[in-house]
Formats: sequence, structure tokens, C-alpha cells
Amino acid sequence: MCGIVGYSGPNNSVGPIIEGLSRLEYRGYDSAGICLKINNELQILKKEGKLDNLKSLIQEKKPFSHIGIGHTRWATHGAVTADNAHPHGNELFAVVHNGIIENAGALKKELQKEGFEFKSQTDSEVFLVLLTKFFKESKNVLSSISKAFSTITGNSAFVIIEKQSDKLYCLKRSAPLVVGDNKETREAFVSSDPFALVGFAPRIYFPEDSVICESSVNSSEVTIKFYELNLTPSNRYKIQGNAMSVDITSKGPYEHFMLKEIHEQPYLVEKLAAYYIKDEGRKILDQLVNFKTDCWHITACGTAWHAGLVIKNYLEQINRQRASVEIASEFRYKNPIINQKEIGLFISQSGETADTLACQELCKESGISSFAIVNVEGSTLYRNSDKNFLIHAGIEIGVASTKAFTLQVLTGYLMSRSMKSSLDDPKLFIELKLLSTRISELCSESDKIKKIAEKIYHQKGFIFTGRGKYFPIALEGALKLKEIAYVHAEGYAAGELKHGPIALIDEEIVNIAIIGPELFEKTISNIEEVKARRGKIVVIGPDHNAEIEHLSDAYLGLNFEGLNDLSPLYVNVALQLLSYHIAYLKGTDIDKPRNLAKSVTVE
Ligand code: G6P
Repeated sequence: MCGIVGYSGPNNSVGPIIEGLSRLEYRGYDSAGICLKINNELQILKKEGKLDNLKSLIQEKKPFSHIGIGHTRWATHGAVTADNAHPHGNELFAVVHNGIIENAGALKKELQKEGFEFKSQTDSEVFLVLLTKFFKESKNVLSSISKAFSTITGNSAFVIIEKQSDKLYCLKRSAPLVVGDNKETREAFVSSDPFALVGFAPRIYFPEDSVICESSVNSSEVTIKFYELNLTPSNRYKIQGNAMSVDITSKGPYEHFMLKEIHEQPYLVEKLAAYYIKDEGRKILDQLVNFKTDCWHITACGTAWHAGLVIKNYLEQINRQRASVEIASEFRYKNPIINQKEIGLFISQSGETADTLACQELCKESGISSFAIVNVEGSTLYRNSDKNFLIHAGIEIGVASTKAFTLQVLTGYLMSRSMKSSLDDPKLFIELKLLSTRISELCSESDKIKKIAEKIYHQKGFIFTGRGKYFPIALEGALKLKEIAYVHAEGYAAGELKHGPIALIDEEIVNIAIIGPELFEKTISNIEEVKARRGKIVVIGPDHNAEIEHLSDAYLGLNFEGLNDLSPLYVNVALQLLSYHIAYLKGTDIDKPRNLAKSVTVE
């Protein structure tokens, strides 16, 4: 979603702002802009499309300014145009915004009646106009920010600069926003993601909701102040060092971050296993020994929801504990039945997904504990959870999630195993090591998968099927393909095919059939039905099987031996590679697919 970077300090703000926005490009956006204070005027440069368009404009104009704010926009209100791109500014203020102002329509009408004019169709400009109106009445910036923020509803983050000072102001409600500083270089920063500030700000401040932060820099120091909305000083913020390194932004020998992240999985699987079984993570899992709950309410979105479906199977099959998995945007509005002896389990790579956070809030209001399987330490989900189970995936830059899925499921598996029996069982470690080896083998056989992709990439539609523990993998495989290859793909429980989707089958449709060693015969019958209707068949199934060989148009044989409950993860990596190669052949933007955002911080 929208990326925000702000700078105030002795250097030209353009460098850190553009570098920060480039690092946030992976999150998805459709236009970009910057506002710089030059000769006491707020100058705005905005461009539709990629950040490169804005960079060219900057190259041409060569602006220099000690203070500025930049933004990459992912359109919600108003089309993708330069006018709707941020920052929005006037003779007094410039503002960037991430989120949605829910009462923008009504407020805009009132403001227009009062004679205020709007230059864009965005909800964000409503905040700018409110701020201006209150400032004209009070001549006080902080109170105007507070009043404008209290007037709007919905979840948002704002950064504001003003013509009359070199201060950066920001505040948020349920949207990511951090402030950073570097005392030595006397620089202050603001961003929607600490990643944008790596190498710039060694210290990061995490303000809580509705805390106004004011950063100012003078010739001897940088000062960061926090205020409540009633303008009394606030201590509702946390400080943390920014330990990330800039190297993580490199693709290494890979052409895409997605491919790099797929190849990181064998190493990360072993690292996570060591962390939770042998190292510090063990203390966290040991707290779950003999843990029981009446029901796990698992909520998540997208790929993380699919991870939840696999984890539900573990909780039910290994622990015989009930688990419900719901799409977060559904759960939050369904008036769910939540009882006291139950637990909320939230799964999220970013820890910032708006719907997942809302579910956590709902569970907290219902008085139940909140556990999180999360990648980003310090994220909102992380900070609001009673217990966190970090997946230690490192930063995931490819918009289509790969390694985070594997590690989310693996973390859920280890949680489930720790509730059942001792993690000292040597078989467990061997099983995890075997998963790592098998994924490694798959990565080294990527060419085999590429050959399959070459046979099918031009086909019209793809139906992924799987039974039991492979059903969530069919859903995830289809999601991955549609995300990055822009083709129609659906996942179905294999047995469900004949209850409707079979009507779609003809020679232009491919059935990607996952066949595990379990329920083998039944799944074979399902592909016979597809074949009878001239559909193309690609099987991902047990290796060296003559029956599959005979039935399929393409066949990727896998060695399931010894993987047991972890085999869905193995199959999933094969599907990640298949989607990658199909998308590659189609020439799409694999790391930053159109219309998608890495972290969806609006409803
Ligand atoms: C977006 C991303 C998906 C991701 C989903 C949930 O839609 O494009 O890849 O699965 O959000 O994100 P989260 O950060 O909560 O795991």
C-alpha cells in the first residue's frame, strides 16, 4: 500500500526520500510524488506510474531542500492521475496520507458549501482542507492537526509539513508509521516502514495511535516530541534500534526477488527449526506444553489465510483441538461467537494488514488472549499480541508471498507439536531437515518445472485440485499463479470438481492436480474425469508412477517419503516455481504485479 517517507535535516532531502520510496516500491503503488520546501514555498512534483517517472522529473529540475515528504500512492479514492497523487498541498501545508477517510464524502460536501475548493478526487485532500480551515481559525498548527484528525473517521497515517517552519508532523490511527532520527548527523525521518530508513536512522520511534509527533532540526540538535490530541506531552511511543542491513535489498544472483526468496527456503526452514527446537525460541514453545483451548479462532488474509488452513489441520489432527479459520475481512463483521476459553490466532507476514488487526481488536474486546504468527517484529500485530511466534523469514520483497507462507505453516506445525509431545524427539528435527533437503532438490530441478511451464503457459485457465492436506495448497497455488501471471486460476478440493467447476473443462483449461500418497486412487479418478473432457492435466504427485505418467500431459514426480505432515509445504514450493516460470514466460512484472500491494493497510 502507500509508501511514505519524510526528511528534515542539513542535507538535500531528495536523496533519502527517493531512496526510501524505492525501497517501498515492492509494496505496490501506481503514482508517486514529493513536496519540498524551497525558498519558503512548498513545491510539489507528482507523476503517474512508476517512481522512475518522478525520478526523471527530479533529474530535470534538480531541486534542493532541507525538508520534504514523499509518497507512493495505491489508489483507493479517485483514479490513478497525477492530480490524485500525493502530496496534496496549498499555500500553507502539504500532506501525505496512507489509509482511508471513511467520512470524506460528507466532510467534502460541507467544506465545499463553506467555499473550500478541491483539486483532486481523493479523500486525503479532505484532511488538508480541514487542517487549513482550522489553522486559519486558530493559527496553531498542533491544535489544527489534532482537530482535523479528530474530525475524520477510518484508519489512516498522515505526515504534514508547513510553509512556516522546518518541522515534520505525523500521526496515525491503526496504520503503520514510524519516526527515526540520527543524532550525529542531525537528521529526522518519518516513514510508513522502518525498512525505508535502514542506513539513515539508527533509532526508530513507534508512536501509538493518535499521538502527534513533531520532529525539528536546528544547527545543534534534532528534537522529537510527542503529544496527545489534547496537546499534553505523550509517552505513548516505543524506541528501538534499526538493526536491518541495506544488503537485504539485493537480489544476489537471482533475476527476481521472488526467485531469491523461493531459494532461501531450505536455509530458512533449518534456521527456524534450530531456533524453535534448540535455541531461544524453545522457551516460547515450551510455554505451550499441555496447552489446551476450546477453539482456536484463526484469522488472516490472502496467503496467510491459506497458511491458517494448513495449521488448522495440524491443530485438529495432531492435537485434536478445534480450530476455525476465517478470512479476516469476514470474521470482523460477522458478530462471531467467541467464548472465554478460546484463543485468537492471527497470521500475518507484515503484521500490518488492516482486517487482521481488526480481528485481533475484536478478540481482545471479547476478553480472549491473542497469539500471533508474524514476520515483522515490532509491527502493530506483534505489539498488540499476548504471545508472538516469529517466523524469522527476513524481509520478503516479492509481493507474492513465498517464504513467509512456508515459515508461517512451519511455525504453526512446531506450535502444534510442542502441545503434543516433547520437541526433543530426534525424529522431528530429522523430518524438518528432510523438508529442507527436498525443497533444495526442487530448487535445483527448477528447469524441469520450467519445461512444464513452457507446455502450458499459453492456456486460458488453470484449475488446481488437491484433497485433504493438499486442498489449502491447491488454493495457494492458484492464488500465486493469478497474482503474478495474471491468468484465471482457481483452487478446488478435488472431490468438489464435479459439483460445478467441471463445466469449465475443455482443451483450453489445465488441471494442476496435486496427488499425495494419501487418497491416491480417489484423486486419480478425479483426473480421469478431466481427461475425459479434453482438459490438459499436469500432475504433481508421487514419483515413478506409471499410471500418472499415462494419464497426464505433464508430470512432476516428487519424493514424499518421510515428510509426513510437512509434505504440503514441499508440494507448495513446486507450485511456487511453476507460477514463477509461467509468469516469466508471460513477461509480467513478477516482483511487483499490477494492482497488488504487499501489505494491505486499508479495509
Ligand atoms: C496482500 C499480499 C499477500 C498477503 C496478504 C496478507 O494481499 O499481496 O501476499 O498474503 O496481503 O498479508 P500479511 O502481511 O497479513 O501476511
